[in-house]
Amino acid sequence: MIKLHLPSRASLWCAVALSATVLGFGTATVWAEPDKTQTQVAHGANGALLPRDSKDAAVFRGGLVYANYCVTCHGINADGNGRAARLHTPRPANLRASDKNDAYIGLIVRKGGEPLGRSTGMPPWAEELTDEQIGDVVAFVRSVNAQSHSR
Ligand code: HEC
Repeated sequence: MIKLHLPSRASLWCAVALSATVLGFGTATVWAEPDKTQTQVAHGANGALLPRDSKDAAVFRGGLVYANYCVTCHGINADGNGRAARLHTPRPANLRASDKNDAYIGLIVRKGGEPLGRSTGMPPWAEELTDEQIGDVVAFVRSVNAQSHSR
């Protein structure tokens, strides 16, 4: 019984652990605590869950998108130092230091660098990702971005 359930649970927890530890937001944002400002959090028997439409839920989902599609180039710390970064000139952007707004980030993720006069090294993702995934990954980039307080 336990053996049967282990692989799927293990991979789920890998994904959760990856996005929580690797992508720079603490478990407190994922599992909301009662003393936080998230007043609409549903508290179930298994602990608090985030409402689907909340910003924190979008950031969490976006972290998973990031881990799957962006980390190779932009890096585990979103600083542009992914394992494939050295293959690109110019190098993948440091997303923590980006001065671009959400609309621009959404656009470059959707269309890739080329139509925006940037490098083809930044691929277009509109075919791969749903609108929700793109919105989520933009929310994630915003959450790790130094400018996040001002937008
Ligand atoms: C194959 C490597 C690669 C992958 C994978 C990749 N990028 Fe990029 N990205 C780049 C490169 C290279 C640039 C810099 C383009 C330039 O400066 O002309 C860039 C630029 C960007 C920028 C512009 C930032 C700024 O401040 O101008 C954003 C935002 C971005 N990428 C987000 C993402 C997201 C989100 C994903 C995952 C969905 C992703 N990238 C996946 C290579 C990649």
